[in-house]
Amino acid sequence: MGVHVVDHPLVAHKMSILRDKNTSVKDFRELVSEIGMLITYEATRDLPMTTRMVETPICKAEVPTLKGKKFAVVPILRAGLGLVDGVLRMVPGARVGHMGMYRDEETLEPHVYFCKMPKDIADRNVLIVDPMLATGGSAVEAVSEMKRQGCKNIKFMALLAAPEGIAKMEEVHPDVDIFCGVIDKGLNENGYIVPGLGDAGDRIFGTK
Ligand code: PRP
Ligand code: URA
Repeated sequence: MGVHVVDHPLVAHKMSILRDKNTSVKDFRELVSEIGMLITYEATRDLPMTTRMVETPICKAEVPTLKGKKFAVVPILRAGLGLVDGVLRMVPGARVGHMGMYRDEETLEPHVYFCKMPKDIADRNVLIVDPMLATGGSAVEAVSEMKRQGCKNIKFMALLAAPEGIAKMEEVHPDVDIFCGVIDKGLNENGYIVPGLGDAGDRIFGTK
């Protein structure tokens, strides 16, 4: 359990381009997907394995293979959608559940407005994805909702995390591993991550 920072030159390089306010919407979206793919690599490190027999051109061999297909990715709308493609490129058979959530701009409190999960979600390993872990309010509420749905194996993935958000998650959901690309300095008075990358949803979808 705990926080796992994917400390890798490719992640760090791509993250720096992402932070640049002059990066285009197209490039931003592609980079979110690529970094998401790289973090997924770490977040899936403990997926259960089994073996099967194959016949290579040389001989029969017992080879490793993923056990079962019980994996689901759950993006927090909107910005989490930007990470789904990267996860699915790594785990093509994953199911996708959607959690609609927005923050009240004044109180910063998160509100769930939509939740559509695969029927057997309680039996799946769940990876909740959102580019930003800021105050942690959205992440904590998303994990709580998945627990209410019966999920036991839950991980959380972000591109950027603030120490405040990490602390809140560790306090409320100490059983949930957090995977991220970098931990930033903190939050400003508006709840934005500093130095951060701005509003992830607006930059992914070009809404500002
Ligand atoms: C952003 C971000 C997270 C949340 C993080 O979403 O994508 O969901 O804020 O902040 P928190 O850790 O303080 O809860 P936002 O509410 O801006 O919605 P959007 O995805 O629609 O842009
Ligand atoms: N949500 C964002 O999109 N960016 C932040 O810095 C914090 C919350």
